[in-house]
Amino acid sequence: MLSQKGMVIWMTGLSGSGKTTIAVALEKLLAEKGLLTQILDGDNIRSGINNNLGFSDEDRKENIRRIAEVSKLFVNCGVVALNCFVSPTKAIRQQAKEILGNDMLEVFVNTPFEECEKRDVKGLYAKARSGEIKNFTGIDDPYQAPVNPEIHLHSDKQTLTQEVDAILAELRERGIIKSK
Ligand code: ADX
Repeated sequence: MLSQKGMVIWMTGLSGSGKTTIAVALEKLLAEKGLLTQILDGDNIRSGINNNLGFSDEDRKENIRRIAEVSKLFVNCGVVALNCFVSPTKAIRQQAKEILGNDMLEVFVNTPFEECEKRDVKGLYAKARSGEIKNFTGIDDPYQAPVNPEIHLHSDKQTLTQEVDAILAELRERGIIKSK
């Protein structure tokens, strides 16, 4: 019915690295090409289906497992899921990959820690520094950068347009976008 093939564009990176900003810009361009998408991020997942999970290693793992399973349902319907999650460890991302296989495109939104902390969009870095929030990724919890991401974006050096273009090129390559 949709005449499109679903897949998951899985963006990993620190809080404030720009994952959702990229997803929103990408979603707009894909909509213009007639492609149906669904953004999944902390705002719609951690407030709903995963509102019983925190940020311990175990909870982050369960968070990502449920997200991968939900994304799989979107893929089955032909929807392109745009996932924006810190997904901080290699093991966690591997788990998602095991659930989604080749339908998952791993995109590393690589913005230096200092830049994310400076942006501090949600004021969470300040809270983590003062000890008000514990286990904050990049401060007192680790972020293991992907070694071989399928797409590697540098938000501090590339423009938003360049970042989105890099993903669009891969979607053309995979036949998800059929027009030029
Ligand atoms: S993940 O580690 O399980 O993948 P997820 O992407 O769902 O994390 O949620 C991260 C978002 O939750 C951050 O962007 C930030 O806004 C918020 N957050 C609140 N507490 C933490 C924390 N301790 N570590 C990381 N992010 C946190």
